[in-house]
Amino acid sequence: MNYAENILETIGNTPMVKLNKLTAELPCLVLAKYETFNPGNSVKDRMALQMIEDAEADGRLKPGGTIIEGTSGNTGMGLALAAIIKGYKCIFVMADKQSKEKVDILKAVGAEVVVCPTNVEPTDPRSYYSVSKRLGEETPNSWYVNQYDNPSNAKAHYKSTGPEIWEQTDGKVTHFVVGVGTGGTISGVGKYLKEQNPNVKIWGIDTYGSVFKKYHETGIFDEKEIYPYVTEGIGEDILPLNVDFSIIDGFTKVTDKDAAVYTQRLSKEEGMFLGNSAGAAIKGVLQLKEHFKAEDVVVVLFHDHGSRYVGKMYNDEWMKKMGYID
Ligand SMILES: Cc1ncc(COP(=O)(O)O)c(C=O)c1O
Repeated sequence: MNYAENILETIGNTPMVKLNKLTAELPCLVLAKYETFNPGNSVKDRMALQMIEDAEADGRLKPGGTIIEGTSGNTGMGLALAAIIKGYKCIFVMADKQSKEKVDILKAVGAEVVVCPTNVEPTDPRSYYSVSKRLGEETPNSWYVNQYDNPSNAKAHYKSTGPEIWEQTDGKVTHFVVGVGTGGTISGVGKYLKEQNPNVKIWGIDTYGSVFKKYHETGIFDEKEIYPYVTEGIGEDILPLNVDFSIIDGFTKVTDKDAAVYTQRLSKEEGMFLGNSAGAAIKGVLQLKEHFKAEDVVVVLFHDHGSRYVGKMYNDEWMKKMGYID
């Protein structure tokens, strides 16, 4: 018999899938690291489990404890799955711009969800950063995860996602392209790949309304770069410790409209029913066309599943209302 002892053992070892139609204009092979095959349907299962295991190991998380986190949904799902198996409670804090499906999904796996306003300063006591910190301080026997600054986040990708990409491409990967939020994925994978071959180029996908690209290029944290945006999962108005700017070769920004339109195109043209940051990532790959040569092997990582976006990017009424399609 061949079976996993529990659902957590099915995390990782996701497939790599070639893109065929959307990337036809590019000279090179483009492969998707397809993370929806994780049990929580996103790459975040990997880092959620690593963060919990590291917190258990050094006593930050104790038996029967409550896990508290600010999450746009995917990290929460990973944490919730691990909490069920390991016997913890979860309270998650979310910004109100996230899709309703994400809130419902977290409740479905037993978590308590607190929703906060999106358009307030990170330092505002109502912001989801502040509320999650406060709950962490007030709740007895709790552990505040802080995926932004928790080094176990990038470590998970250094230990699993990076080596998988290296092995699946037989060491031939030349570029890694991925959306950046907490920075865990790009930093962990990027560090591992650059250690194997320093010539591998690491590109981050950013969004308009986020500070990353300008900070990387100038070293300036420009508050004028910060404004509300629609794209989910990537971009920040803070500099998380998990973003290791030194291993990133460049950022390209993708508009909200392009990210939404390309999310639909991935589904309709490649049969890849994926989340909004996958649309941004593949459009970003196309924007980087001039950097690729025929012999290159470009790996783009797709973070999460389309089911979390059926009320938005997969809803034509919503797309029309936003002015993204006619
Ligand atoms: C859908 C989605 N895409 C991209 C990202 C960014 O990944 P990372 O936080 O590892 O930078 C996240 C993380 O929150 C996400 O949920």
